[in-house]
Amino acid sequence: MISNTAARAIAQTSLKASRSFHSSSTSLARKFFVGGNWKCNGSVSQTNELISMLNQSTLTTETEVVVCPSQVYVQGVKDGLRSDVAVGAQDCWVQGNGAFTGETSADMLKDMGVSWVIVGHSERRGKGESDAEVAAKAKYALDKGLSVIACCGEPLEAREAGTTNDFVFPQIKAYADVFTKDDWERVVIAYEPIWAIGTGLTATPEQAQDTHAGIRQYLGQVSGAEVAENTRILYGGSASGKTAPGLSAKPDIDGFLVGGASLKPEFADIVNCQTTDNSLKPVNVGINGFGRIGR
Ligand code: PGA
Repeated sequence: MISNTAARAIAQTSLKASRSFHSSSTSLARKFFVGGNWKCNGSVSQTNELISMLNQSTLTTETEVVVCPSQVYVQGVKDGLRSDVAVGAQDCWVQGNGAFTGETSADMLKDMGVSWVIVGHSERRGKGESDAEVAAKAKYALDKGLSVIACCGEPLEAREAGTTNDFVFPQIKAYADVFTKDDWERVVIAYEPIWAIGTGLTATPEQAQDTHAGIRQYLGQVSGAEVAENTRILYGGSASGKTAPGLSAKPDIDGFLVGGASLKPEFADIVNCQTTDNSLKPVNVGINGFGRIGR
């Protein structure tokens, strides 16, 4: 009889073997990725609590982890957060600095040492950003040296009408029209069905896998097989500690963009959802007010 750990390790190996554009190699390029989108949440003290929670969490080194606080708190989070968790922003402006009241440029984010930026979240698209504008913003950020979490996703009516791909593929096409092959190395796609965001209604693993596989296939058509094979496609929409293991077992789901659950200790469970015990790194070390560690 094999131990649970050994069984998980075997499952992990076969899972990895089965991942990818239709899944020949798990392409090392597709390291599991979990992003936390804190949205318009927090205060100075809550942000410090989140920093402390993350700094004390046991997180696997097999997952790339990024958190995206409100722009206002980005600097504080960068200063207090463990160095193996990257910091991203939730949006950026489509151009550089100038007379654009209220906007944050990719140039500024880069200057602050931010490494990632989310673009095209449905909560921003809902304010009227077109696919082309979102893609232009992503391209500008890439050109400034940021990495990009490029969102897409369909409303409930499209899901119910069976037209999810008709809705999502043009969003992908707009990105593909402006990204070079090299750009794609610094992009993850986040598929976030709008009906699942913040609703507690997670897509089933089968629904998500179907759409992810479709997106990967389509990416192959518009950007080539290598880009399709290597680009990580995250699922977002009420992802939780409970639903993450089932979703992440699917071959085309390469991680998560997490909203609500990223504000809770269960975020660590999502980061660790498909990992073997021996990759976990406990870090209960506090050396400053926020329990910072300096790895
Ligand atoms: P949710 O948000 O996990 O709260 O549904 C996900 C997102 O909007 O990125």
